Amino acid sequence: MIIREIQKNDIYLLSEYKSFFSNNNETIPGAAGLETCKDVSTWINEKLLEKSKKTILNKNFVPATTFLLIDNNTLIGIINIRHELNDYLLNFGGHIGYSIRSDYRRRGFAKLLLNHVINYTFNKLNLDKILITCDSTNIASEKTILSCGGVLDNIIVSNANKLTKRFWINKKRIN
Ligand SMILES: CC(C)(COP(=O)(O)OP(=O)(O)OC[C@H]1O[C@@H](n2cnc3c(N)ncnc32)[C@H](O)[C@@H]1OP(=O)(O)O)[C@@H](O)C(=O)NCCC(=O)NCCS
Repeated sequence: MIIREIQKNDIYLLSEYKSFFSNNNETIPGAAGLETCKDVSTWINEKLLEKSKKTILNKNFVPATTFLLIDNNTLIGIINIRHELNDYLLNFGGHIGYSIRSDYRRRGFAKLLLNHVINYTFNKLNLDKILITCDSTNIASEKTILSCGGVLDNIIVSNANKLTKRFWINKKRIN
């Protein structure tokens, strides 16, 4: 089991992950647009360029890094960490989005992946606190956030009339 940053040659792993969700009629929240992309190779390239303000293609987006959780050549999960917050992220998106393949769920992999990236964010990106949000009905995501030290700030209503829960994780978290 390894957690590493996305690489140019991850086309097969990511295509398989995308097909797996689509074959199960499941959306991929938190996968930074993988679900709707037309070409996985182009999507990977965008993710690689997204790491720096200098190279990011969409100047309305903030820099971000994508990590993969891989087991024996199977992609189990994806996590995307935004290096800063814009207005939309501050209210709804948060710093981090993630997903785990349904056949690997409820085995602690989301907690493993999220904890890894929380440490990366505090130690390498030097943030003092991290915002993570989830739909108010997403019990699995809420429990994952709470298990990683998240503290509920508030619940806000989105344009689509959905409720979004906002949690902060402090550098001095206890979990
Ligand atoms: C949310 C998600 C990433 C959780 O992945 P996972 O690997 O199953 O989570 P874990 O096994 O690490 O479990 C984390 C916690 O959630 C709980 N949990 C997981 N799935 C659950 C479910 N279906 N119902 C209730 N609790 C659940 C676990 O018991 C655990 O709680 P605990 O720490 O109190 O024991 C996964 O369900 C997923 O990919 N969902 C679709 C994408 C998504 O919603 N992403 C989040 C966007 S905000």
